Amino acid sequence: MTTISSNRTGTSSSNLRTDEDVIDQVVRPSNDTCLVEVQSKAGLTAFACSKNESLLLAGLRQGLTLPYECASGTCGSCRARLDSGDVANCWPDAPGHMKIKPAKGDILMCQSRPLGDCSLRVPANVVEGFARYELPTHHNGRIERLDRLTSDVIHFDVVLAEPMSFDAGQFVLLQIPGLEGMRAYSMVNYERRTRRLSLVVKRKPGGGFGDWLFERAAAADKIDVFGPLGSATFHPDEGHDLLMVAGGSGIAGMMSILERATNEGHFESHRGHVFFGVRTVDDCFYLDKFSRYVDRARGNLEVTIALSDAPPQGPVEGAHPDIRFATGLVHEVCGRDMQGRFSDRMMSYLAGPPPMVDGALRTLIGTGKVTPDRIRYDKFG
Ligand SMILES: Cc1cc2nc3c(=O)[nH]c(=O)nc-3n(C[C@H](O)[C@H](O)[C@H](O)COP(=O)(O)OP(=O)(O)OC[C@H]3O[C@@H](n4cnc5c(N)ncnc54)[C@H](O)[C@@H]3O)c2cc1C
Ligand code: FES
Repeated sequence: MTTISSNRTGTSSSNLRTDEDVIDQVVRPSNDTCLVEVQSKAGLTAFACSKNESLLLAGLRQGLTLPYECASGTCGSCRARLDSGDVANCWPDAPGHMKIKPAKGDILMCQSRPLGDCSLRVPANVVEGFARYELPTHHNGRIERLDRLTSDVIHFDVVLAEPMSFDAGQFVLLQIPGLEGMRAYSMVNYERRTRRLSLVVKRKPGGGFGDWLFERAAAADKIDVFGPLGSATFHPDEGHDLLMVAGGSGIAGMMSILERATNEGHFESHRGHVFFGVRTVDDCFYLDKFSRYVDRARGNLEVTIALSDAPPQGPVEGAHPDIRFATGLVHEVCGRDMQGRFSDRMMSYLAGPPPMVDGALRTLIGTGKVTPDRIRYDKFG
């Protein structure tokens, strides 16, 4: 952990609109709580943050629309400039620092904890409240079941002490004792006011969370949860056809979207196209679930498995005649198959490793002429 001080001594408060009402509304629950002022394109606001919580999580929990994507140190979207005060940098090696200018006082709000009162400038519209989503908060959870789906993929459930409502496509941050930092995982299930989160993890070689999950985790283990987070979400009332392109565990949030769309009859009047990229047939999972969704959609849902390293083999195809198998990178298979079928009635969802999501963005925007406002994505890294 390193300490970052503002490099603009004496100038900070003069840059801020003096708005005693805004500042006075902030309640400090204890002496350990700092006051964080935020100057954004929408004006001045403020929130309370304990010295043990990141600026991002404290602000989101209190309903501020602070900008973020990964909430876990990789993307750089939570950039803020520290105008006054000191913060602790919890993960100096976070890849997100490559996308900001630390020498000019930029910090990652998701990796910074206040050491005292401070003021930030955030290059976004930060306002209070975003009615569409439930406010995220801290939950106590326990691992309930662990099912190996392939040699490097595990599906597991976390049971929460208090119910959570989330939207299809959202994710949570998980933290376990003894491992620095929080990891983001997307929900596979879809339920309102549920105490059960179903999650799927693809093991990263040498990864801290993956190693724990595959080697040491057991039912009843305690786990800290923060959520729900993320805005790559599905809302039936928007009335879109759906295009989903996922690589590996990127399929997690798509399963949640399929669950909601199927249960709420979305495919009675809309079409869906799913492209799921894995290396070989041995890396496929959730095939039975896909078959059930295809069956219930009565011709309005197509699922294609794109195998990047090997052509499909007979037995798996035979067992799932309702699922299509193709060879190639998932974004290329999607581009070929959707040629002439992209439409402005469609909302596209992308998730998986960053190179896969970037490839799919190029396909959709370049080949499909899809406009960016019709694409929602999560990069898993
Ligand atoms: C929005 C989103 C959703 C995701 N959903 C899924 C999913 O459903 N399934 C899935 O398998 N993967 C998902 N991921 C990827 C997942 O969060 C992990 O990066 C991956 O599982 C590897 O974690 P690891 O601990 O095994 O590897 P590690 O290499 O140990 O850790 C990787 C990640 O952990 C965090 N981290 C590492 N060290 C620190 C530290 N010192 N301090 C703070 N943070 C640290 C960073 O986010 C880093 O990228 C998602 C990622 C994002 C951004
Ligand atoms: S949201 Fe902080 S680095 Fe991604």
